[in-house]
Amino acid sequence: MMGVVYTTFMDMVAERFSEDVLDEVLDDPGLSTGGAFTSVGYYGHTDMIKLVVRLSQITKLPVDTLIEAFGEHLFGVLVGKYPTLAEGRSSSMELLEVVDTAIHVEVLKLYPNAELPEFRCERLEPSVLHMEYRSKRPFSRLALGLIQGCAKHYGETLEISHESFDSEEQYETHFTIKRIQ
Ligand code: HEM
Repeated sequence: MMGVVYTTFMDMVAERFSEDVLDEVLDDPGLSTGGAFTSVGYYGHTDMIKLVVRLSQITKLPVDTLIEAFGEHLFGVLVGKYPTLAEGRSSSMELLEVVDTAIHVEVLKLYPNAELPEFRCERLEPSVLHMEYRSKRPFSRLALGLIQGCAKHYGETLEISHESFDSEEQYETHFTIKRIQ
């Protein structure tokens, strides 16, 4: 995973919990880097899982809740960092529909070794989007948080239901996203 994802996570932990909690999280002997992450580096995604699991142990909050909150926060940071990628999209549905076909395509041009999931989208009704997540990495909860972050960005309320179909080959989650207002 890109270093920017790690540094964003670290900033969020320091901000929402404390520097002490962050130090404790990074003190995990199982981390491949000895707890050092920079925004320009590239690190295996298992380190991210270890960090979230450790944060969950320290804060006693569920892993899913933490990773979702991180996704929500990450969306704002990504849009701030790459504003042109969200340009011209005037609602969350419009943006979500092009994550796979435009946004992540551009990300891959900028960072050829980025590891991105695959999304298939179908607009079932003007205000209902079916979105299928597939990845080699188990980050569907991060996707859920990113979708929520997207809703927040546009000041919308989305009702999101999801169901997972993980297999030996891949992680797969189907989201049904309904715009309430
Ligand atoms: C302007 C908007 C967005 C930008 C610039 C962006 C960019 C990125 C970047 C840089 C990564 C890290 C790749 C790596 O570490 O190798 C990433 C990963 C990811 N993105 Fe996006 N993204 C955006 C929106 C979204 C949205 C709205 C979703 C969810 C629907 C999403 C789902 C994901 C997921 C789940 C991953 C983790 C990798 C995986 O699951 O395999 N992204 N994205």
